[in-house]
Amino acid sequence: MTRKPFGRNGFFCSDCGYESLKWMGFCSSCHSNQPLVEAPSRSSSNRKGWINPVSSSLKELVSISYDIGSRISSGFQELDRVLGGGIVPGSIILVAGEPGIGKSTLLLQIAHQISLTKRTITYISGEESDHQIKLRADRLGISGKNVFLLTETNVETIVEHLEATLPSLVIIDSVQTLSSSDIGLAPGSITQVRTSVLTLLEWAKIRNIPILLSGHVTKDGTIAGPRVLEHMVDAVLYLEGEPLNANRIVHSQKNRFGSTNEVAMFSMESHGLKEIVDPSQTLLANRSLDAVGSSVVPTIGGSRPLMVEIQALTSPTYGPSPRRTANGIDLSRLVMITTVLTQRSHLNLGNRDVTVNVAGGLRIADPGCDLALALAIASCSKDLPIKQGLVAIGEVGLSGELRPVSQLNRRLQEASRLGFTSCILPMSAKHHKIQGLNLLFATTISMAIKIGLNNHTENRTL
Ligand code: TYD
Ligand code: MG
Repeated sequence: MTRKPFGRNGFFCSDCGYESLKWMGFCSSCHSNQPLVEAPSRSSSNRKGWINPVSSSLKELVSISYDIGSRISSGFQELDRVLGGGIVPGSIILVAGEPGIGKSTLLLQIAHQISLTKRTITYISGEESDHQIKLRADRLGISGKNVFLLTETNVETIVEHLEATLPSLVIIDSVQTLSSSDIGLAPGSITQVRTSVLTLLEWAKIRNIPILLSGHVTKDGTIAGPRVLEHMVDAVLYLEGEPLNANRIVHSQKNRFGSTNEVAMFSMESHGLKEIVDPSQTLLANRSLDAVGSSVVPTIGGSRPLMVEIQALTSPTYGPSPRRTANGIDLSRLVMITTVLTQRSHLNLGNRDVTVNVAGGLRIADPGCDLALALAIASCSKDLPIKQGLVAIGEVGLSGELRPVSQLNRRLQEASRLGFTSCILPMSAKHHKIQGLNLLFATTISMAIKIGLNNHTENRTL
């Protein structure tokens, strides 16, 4: 039986990146209402003349060796941690973020840091002129030795330049400006972006040289490029933050060479991005100590604990049904906690809008923060502040019970380090002890509210 040859093109969903070999109209994976777009299939990228055809061969796993020290440090310890220990040679890393968030700044700073180790960097920009990049470099105090600029958008020309110079690192700003002469479509279209990245991917793997790409995403992450690219590149880093707030957070959405739970914090200053080495302290810096509706929880951000402040605001509902708004927390988690508070702790939230926010622009997906979230809502709803120096850790179940959480010791140590004096915990953690922290135990969310709120007039309705 003869096998059908693979077609050259596939059909891609611009929302989730799903690839179909046949035209199907709409995406059967995410059911997006965007029609599928034709683009070269990953399995059939045409080999270019500069690539030596490599014959594939079987290798026994045991016989494969690699050099553990071959990762290149980005010059930022925090970023290296998010990357899993540095930049892996031959990998393609996408740095995605909203326009103006600081991607070009970060990339130029990385170029500078790596250039200090006597490596050469090729910085390719399709968005800014040499002068604009030089202006930014001056602002950042970067001399630019060993950093070579190229303002080019054609991927074939880019690869020709790279082949001629073989730098230690390639930076491309941004992926949306790339185009391939094989395709007659405008730059930024999915077909152009995919084709260009496939060419670069092949080059990077064969030459074992890493490439950093920047990519714009809009608030809801809808722009085609980065979403489609997630499936192709080795790691996707998101640079996030509020434009008017100096804090920037880098986390990885995908990482073939490390954990995706790590977070790094930077601050955008007049001389570029600066690493924040003690994020817990920064996140709690502007907290008012006896504010109503504010609670603190030690959460786990990858390999280290992070203290975060959860703020809640409840107000009368004027619409037909109460609204729940979550910033930095999963909305379904908020809905669950408000329902449990209403049903199990008799908190009247049925005719109140509830808004919650994680201070500092952080996003948390840790169930251990449930109790702190519940306390913040209860505090606002009852107009009573949470006791000073208190943190709360625990997952909340549907019957209002408190459940155990992971990595408790590290969380408690972080709370103690930052000067907190007491902590509410689920009863299951009774055997824990930590110096300087008064541990208080509760079995239910109602009990925790009773312990946690600064209630001078005892016996209010719970
Ligand atoms: P930029 O890196 O150009 O963003 P992106 O590439 O993601 O579009 O950063 C733009 C913003 O950063 C701009 O609003 C100015 C600010 N910025 C500083 O605050 N300090 C600096 O040193 C630099 C270079 C930029
Ligand atoms: Mg830019």
